[in-house]
Amino acid sequence: MSAGDGTWMPVGTVADVGKQRRVVVELADERQILIIAHEGGFHALDNICIHKQRSMQKGVVLNGRLVCPGHQWAFDLQCGWEAVKNQCQPTYNLRVVDAMVEVDTSSATTVTEAPVR
Ligand code: FES
Repeated sequence: MSAGDGTWMPVGTVADVGKQRRVVVELADERQILIIAHEGGFHALDNICIHKQRSMQKGVVLNGRLVCPGHQWAFDLQCGWEAVKNQCQPTYNLRVVDAMVEVDTSSATTVTEAPVR
């Protein structure tokens, strides 16, 4: 992942984000970052799908992938990789400080191949 320059933005408390499960952060430059609480962890991806620009906020998480409600491309929650189309949805770094979830808005990262697990 890229380090970004550390433009950290608060998303919400760990408890609140965990309860809401999906939170969209809208940036001044019109980007939207989707934060997902899943199985005790948090993940951040661009909310606007790289395929046909649908919002992914209501996508279903299956087997560690966020399935876009547009055309069912399935993006790896950790790295954004779409294994059928060989394309990548940008992801962002997250951290927890004093029970507050923060996203680094400068850390948009894509990978160019499938993750090795
Ligand atoms: S808009 Fe997301 S898969 Fe088509």
